[in-house]
Amino acid sequence: TTITFVTMDGARYPIEAPDGSTAMENAVRHDVPGIDADCGGACACATCHVYVAEDWREAVGEPAEMEEDMLDFAYDVRPNSRLSCQIRVRPELDGLVLNVPERQG
Ligand code: FES
Repeated sequence: TTITFVTMDGARYPIEAPDGSTAMENAVRHDVPGIDADCGGACACATCHVYVAEDWREAVGEPAEMEEDMLDFAYDVRPNSRLSCQIRVRPELDGLVLNVPERQG
């Protein structure tokens, strides 16, 4: 399943991501700049914040309540904000585009 991170300067990071992994794990493994993921995926830091590309919002779905609460701590939260450690890679997300915010926290 290929997912692509796009940073603020327009750089694209396409990654072949194993199904069942989280989007965040793939960003960290491939050194995508701007995904800090300080808590290591425990939904406890909000530094893995991403913006889901509009076309993909429905497929990715809405944040769970715990994630929603944690998103309050993220910088410049928008309706398409998600924590990338809470996005599970699956075949239906092939082609997914996630935009990396200007900064975390
Ligand atoms: Fe900490 Fe996602 S890595 S909330």
